[in-house]
Order: sequence, then C-alpha cells, then structure tokens
Amino acid sequence: MSQIDKLLREDLLGRSPYGAPQLDVAVRLNTNENPHPPPPQLVADLAARVAAAAENLNRYPDRDAVALRSDLADYLSARTGQPVDVRQVWAANGSNEILQQLLQAFGGPGRHALGFDPTYSMHALICVGTGTGYLSMPRLPGFGLEPEAAALVVREHAPDVVFLCSPNNPTGTALDLEVVAAVYEAARGLVVVDEAYGEFSTRPSAVTLLPGRERLVVTRTMSKAFAFAGGRLGYLAAAPDVVAALQLVRLPYHLSTLSQAAARAALAHAPEVLATVEAVKGQRDRLVDGMRALGLEVVDSDANFVLFGEFGDQAATWQGLLDRGVLVRDVGIRGWLRVTAGTEVETTAFLDALSEGLRDAATNQRGA
Ligand SMILES: Cc1ncc(COP(=O)(O)O)c(C=O)c1O
Repeated sequence: MSQIDKLLREDLLGRSPYGAPQLDVAVRLNTNENPHPPPPQLVADLAARVAAAAENLNRYPDRDAVALRSDLADYLSARTGQPVDVRQVWAANGSNEILQQLLQAFGGPGRHALGFDPTYSMHALICVGTGTGYLSMPRLPGFGLEPEAAALVVREHAPDVVFLCSPNNPTGTALDLEVVAAVYEAARGLVVVDEAYGEFSTRPSAVTLLPGRERLVVTRTMSKAFAFAGGRLGYLAAAPDVVAALQLVRLPYHLSTLSQAAARAALAHAPEVLATVEAVKGQRDRLVDGMRALGLEVVDSDANFVLFGEFGDQAATWQGLLDRGVLVRDVGIRGWLRVTAGTEVETTAFLDALSEGLRDAATNQRGA
C-alpha cells in the first residue's frame, strides 16, 4: 500500500475514476454530445460577450448568477409550458456539479440514495464522492419502470434521495409522468429527475409537476441538445428552498464570469442551436432501423443515443468497431453497447463498420 493509499479515505481505496475513453478516432459516438458545432453567429456573439466580460475579470463573478438563472428560467418556462421563476433555478459547471451539490446538501454520511439500474453511472459515483450510500434497484425487463412497482421499492427503502432519469442513460427509455408522481408520493426524501436529454424527448418534462411538490428537483444540462458540452453548464428547477439549501454547500463564485457570459450567449441562440435536434433524432432513427435490419436487438430510445446488443462478448464488438475507426461506449452491461446519434456520415460509418464486424465474426465462427 502506498503512502497516499494509507492516507486516502477507506471508501475510496481501489476505486476507478469515471473514464469514458477520450480517443482520437475519426468517428466518436461515445459521450452523447450533439455532433453539430455551434453556428457561426453564436460563436461570434459569444466571443463578443466574453470579450466584454473579460474587461471585469479583476472582479469576482456574480456569486448567484442571477442574470443567467433568469435566462434559464425563461428558457424552461417557454420550453415546458410551466412558468418557472429565477428563485427556482440554480446553475453550476455541468449538471454533474448540480448533482454533487444536491448530495452534499441532502445526502452524505449516514444517508442513502436510491436509483434504478442500469442508469447514469455518475449518480452512484457522486454518492461515493459525497459519502452517501447508494441502493441499486433493478429496472423491469425492457428497462422501463412502472408507477406502482417503483413506488413500492421507494416506500420500502425510504431513501434520502431518489434518482430517476428520463430519458434514461444508457437505455434511452423515457418515463411517464405517472411514475414520477407515484415515486414522489411514496418518497420521504428528495426526488431528483435527471432530464439531461429532455430536449430529445417527446414526453412532457417533470418541470410540469413542480407546483405543490417541494421535494421534487429536475436537473437539466446544456451539454447535450444545446451543443455546449465544452461550456460546462448544468442547472435545476425546484422549489426556492432547495436552491437556498444548495447555496449552503456551493463554493463561492463557482461559475466564472466567462462561463456565465458564454452560457447566456448560447441561450440567446437557443432556436438556432435546437434546430439541430430533429436532424439528430433522424440519425437516431436511422441507427435503430439499420441495426434492426442487421438482426440486432435495439432498445426504443427517446434520447440521442441507442442501446444495442446482444453480443456474446460486447468488449470484442467494441474493439472491432474501434479498429474500424468508430468509438462507441461499453457501459458495462453484459451483452450491450451504446452508440450516440451523430451526423449522417457518422451513422453510415458506424453501420458499415458494424455490419463488416458482424460478417467477419460470423466467418470466423464458421471457420472455427
Ligand atoms: C443522464 C445524465 N445526467 C447528467 C449528465 C452530466 O452532464 P453534464 O455534467 O455535462 O451536464 C450526463 C452526461 O452524460 C448524463 O448522461
């Protein structure tokens, strides 16, 4: 055991960091980004706003990011049809930081969260980082959730925090709002609905359930549909008391002046940026049809990625695709892989690489 291992918290010993491979390959379909770069008019506007903000970099940023939160509240209100005001919105460096702040305030040692797996791996990992217990509950066959069954599990385990994810990463499955409402009724603690992929879904947002539900939190991000993953901006909508609680644990000035200015620029161009969503969904549907035509199992997706299988050895299929210049994600579910919807050219490259790989594997098997 090294000197550092001896000093490390025992519950962190032997753990691996979050690590989606960042490899330099031609076709990268492994982290669910929007493949379309920001439009030139947004880049120009953002550069101008960041330049103006830079003149005040000797000063700390607005600690409460009020102007940005107000823009986010307007965006969410328009998008979901549910009026949301600035006191209900909080922002941070990516929705991962929002989730961390939630667990710092409402989780921690002696407390536990509950999630329905397979789901976004960072829910459990952020629990580890904040010393929160994590109870992993299974999803139904087909990866969905039923209101009564989910509520039963939540009532039985009485977690301090419940994570729901809709559409769910890595399965793409969206939740009916009845599931959220039933889980909320059954829960004694916070219910967090992670809607990182909300803009890709045709279902109504859980934001519409906020009125009268003080313990409900909806987290969102600009990393996916908004094509702003590099900008690092996540946010939540909840009761003002939840926002006040997060202000107890956030680091002062956590969102830089530059981040705030850049995110406001991106929000000002929301219609142009979000116009790419339909194209991405078109490629997702091509992926689904193409893979089903190859005889594969594909889970119906409401997001910008698709879970597909089933492979005897998904790691070998992952490597075979990488050898052909296509990076997808092995999320650790035996037999399954996840692919992000990219551009038309990327979809074609992926489907070609996959069918070639399947053909080679069949030939090898015959020869064996
Ligand atoms: C379900 C889900 N939630 C949250 C995030 C975190 O996104 P970010 O921190 O970039 O906002 C991701 C990223 O992949 C995700 O898939």
